[in-house]
Amino acid sequence: MKKNIFVALDFNSLDKAVDTVSMIKDEIAGVKIGTELYAICGNNGLTKFKELGLEIFLDLKLHDIPNQVKKTVAAVKSFDKVKYLTVHTSGNYEMLKAAQESAGSIELLGVTVLTSQSNLEGVGVKNSVENQIKLLVNLAIKSNISGVIASAQDISLIRSLSKELKIFCPGIRSGEDKQDQKRVMSYADFSKKADDKCFAVIGRPIIEGDPVQNIKKIIQSIK
Ligand code: C5P
Repeated sequence: MKKNIFVALDFNSLDKAVDTVSMIKDEIAGVKIGTELYAICGNNGLTKFKELGLEIFLDLKLHDIPNQVKKTVAAVKSFDKVKYLTVHTSGNYEMLKAAQESAGSIELLGVTVLTSQSNLEGVGVKNSVENQIKLLVNLAIKSNISGVIASAQDISLIRSLSKELKIFCPGIRSGEDKQDQKRVMSYADFSKKADDKCFAVIGRPIIEGDPVQNIKKIIQSIK
């Protein structure tokens, strides 16, 4: 089976992140570097992971005026190390279109809805979760970006709108402890829904404790 796990390297030290990745790199499709690690290690970190032969997903979740997002995407492209970069679909069409104009070989992924309905209401969104996801995914489709970040619970809905979009799913949990994730799914259930354009983004269930045993258990859960 094609490898479909991106490990979220939510560490405050590059050494810890590199040690963890070195232990599990044969089992994963790539690494996700978020704002915490990127703030600490910058491009130096990107180079290290590139040297390990892994695809790099830089999770900066850009959301700004279109011109600034466009220039930031161009700056990331100039490093020539990043394969996937996140932007917020709620930045709206003009921002997404501007980002895509300078993306070149970088594949942009648009963050959709991962929160509960009550959280949507808390920021003044009156749409149901389903309608909000449809609206944001349609913005991603219209602006021609490569994929979206969404709960695995939304894979079927997103596939009813597009067969082409890549779908990256955080919130993968097997046990009872959801931590701060609200819309979760086990890796086994994700795998039943996933096609070859779907990827799991998994952080704490892999990096906390013993990463080798953790990923082994996750992969064996589908056998
Ligand atoms: O530790 P856990 O598996 O919950 O990590 C999930 C990762 O996915 C985190 O790095 C988080 O930043 C990321 N993510 C998320 N929700 C989003 C976008 C990204 O949990 N909307």
